[in-house]
Amino acid sequence: MGSQQYIQVEKKEDIAIVTINRPEKLNAMNIDVVKEMDNVIDHLDKDDGVKVVIITGAGEKAFSAGADIEYMTKISPLEAEKYALTGHATLNKIENSNKPIIAAINGYALGGGCELALSCDIRVASKNAGLGQPEVTIGICPGWGGTQRLIRIIGSARAKEMIYTGKRISAEEAFQMGLVNKVVELPQLMDECMNIAKQIAKNSAIAVRISKTLLNRGIDSDINTGLKLEIFGWSLCFSHPDREQRMTAFVQKSKK
Ligand code: COA
Repeated sequence: MGSQQYIQVEKKEDIAIVTINRPEKLNAMNIDVVKEMDNVIDHLDKDDGVKVVIITGAGEKAFSAGADIEYMTKISPLEAEKYALTGHATLNKIENSNKPIIAAINGYALGGGCELALSCDIRVASKNAGLGQPEVTIGICPGWGGTQRLIRIIGSARAKEMIYTGKRISAEEAFQMGLVNKVVELPQLMDECMNIAKQIAKNSAIAVRISKTLLNRGIDSDINTGLKLEIFGWSLCFSHPDREQRMTAFVQKSKK
């Protein structure tokens, strides 16, 4: 995948850990960080040896403090559009990746950092984490999907409060509103994410992949379209040898 300045990838068996490594800037995502992340996701998507991806930030303070504010002080509307398009393309790639992706939120997840977490399938936060969409405090609105994904995850009233106030919420508050799946102490964060990843990885990769597609496509479809898609996805599982092996193994075991 070429040499990366800001994004590290470590593989632990069939689980890939992707780390944003710019801790001196609280893992803020300048355009190079975003492009490297895009490149990494492309590679992992094609790697059949990887079943689950975990995204985290380097250090003990931040998952990511968001888009790079210093860079944004200098850019024109057209450059801003390009920055937004780049962010959207990468976060869409994460959301639509054929692997489940877990955000291990190890500290601040603000602005684009929160939006990055929103594009992941599952979010686990450490107790010290703080999440928020503070864009309005610096004169912009969320620009990497926050206005669209947050509302779908936590509902309109809570998303509007978070985005209009720009306030930071604790990991515990994020858990209460369903924004994160779990809260653990920071030293336990990676173990917890690895446990979830291992549980997923031992299941049929094709069945998990089809489930992800159905869940993601269904949420923006009407219920009948979503249910129809489910029938197609379910039937497609029967074309894979994994289904036959797993069902036969189950039946043989229960006959013993
Ligand atoms: N973009 C660029 N640089 C950032 C950044 C961002 N989003 N967030 C933090 N940094 C940089 C700081 O400028 C500082 O750099 P310096 O040491 O060269 O001055 C470094 O990261 C450490 O941040 P600092 O603000 O000193 O840490 P803190 O502990 O006092 O505060 C935060 C932490 C997260 C509360 C604060 O950094 C912050 O509010 N960041 C911006 C969050 C935000 O609004 N994100 C949305 C952007 S759209």
